[in-house]
Amino acid sequence: MVGIGLLGLGTVGTGVVEILEERQEELKFLIGEEIKIKKILVKNIDKKREIQLEENIITSDYNEILNCEDISIIVELTGDLDQGYKYIKDALNSGKDVVTANKAVVSKHFEELSSLAAEKDLAFLYEASVGGGIPILKRLKGELILNKITEVQGILNGTCNYILSSMFNKGLDYNEALKIAQDMGYAEADPTADVEGYDTLRKLRILGTLALQGKIDESDILLEGISKITPFDIEQIKSIDFIIKLIGEVKELEDGFIAVVQPTIMKESSYFANVDMAFNSIVFLGNNVGELKFSGLGAGKLPTANAVLADIVDIVEDTYRKGNPLGERKLNNLNEKLKAEY
Ligand code: HSE
Repeated sequence: MVGIGLLGLGTVGTGVVEILEERQEELKFLIGEEIKIKKILVKNIDKKREIQLEENIITSDYNEILNCEDISIIVELTGDLDQGYKYIKDALNSGKDVVTANKAVVSKHFEELSSLAAEKDLAFLYEASVGGGIPILKRLKGELILNKITEVQGILNGTCNYILSSMFNKGLDYNEALKIAQDMGYAEADPTADVEGYDTLRKLRILGTLALQGKIDESDILLEGISKITPFDIEQIKSIDFIIKLIGEVKELEDGFIAVVQPTIMKESSYFANVDMAFNSIVFLGNNVGELKFSGLGAGKLPTANAVLADIVDIVEDTYRKGNPLGERKLNNLNEKLKAEY
């Protein structure tokens, strides 16, 4: 049995519980191990939940989870930068593997936490932090290592894409569209991170650093969100058969990188224009594969929870280490390189 300590029971945490419950038997059959949530950390124990939970599983004391010998993997889903960072660091220092969906933490503390995990020979996996259900980071640590990637472009925020698509296609106003994105479970607890572009910036920093193998700090990325786009702008853009999308882009130049997140106007027939609603898409330019496109649901309960569980399975199966030897070696070397700069 592999014991999990879940930190946070919001949209994604609930999805993790649901998928595990539904796939428990198949998972046990496929990987030969039962994956069991032993404890769940929440702020408010008395809050009414939409799912049925085992008795005594909920706690508001993190030490109870850290000290539980039956728990070997901590799954951090708080969404909070400072608290999440502390939880992850404490987990690694206590000898527990970590899976997180927290892009704010991964983006800000990538080098430190990756190095700490490598030092302790533990896993620090964060597939769910970028692209929701799209298994993109695994591919970057896997076969894509054979390429020199010089360019990454993407629609990386489901909330912004949902808002812009709804304003364009359904004539909704900005606040109406945001409210629906929140109700669908796409938006962050504070949607400022979505609409002002910080969420895209963090994902671009993670993707860019892994793909281009150079440290692309948050402060290196030029940023403009979508909150200033008005219905008038939309009408004007529509009238010339163009559309607007929030695009994050990193490109290698001869002597460095260019990195930017900005609303971008494009022809309605162009590739990104047709990435609709809460979908994300990421396009890489690699010297062997040429242009490679990945797309799928970039936000929401089940796609994100699926990515979290895929990381858990990778740890249980040890494929994060053994299944991707090329990728792990690359990551370790990258960690060394980044540690030198850190
Ligand atoms: N708020 C994020 C988004 C969630 O809308 O894309 C997934 O990272």
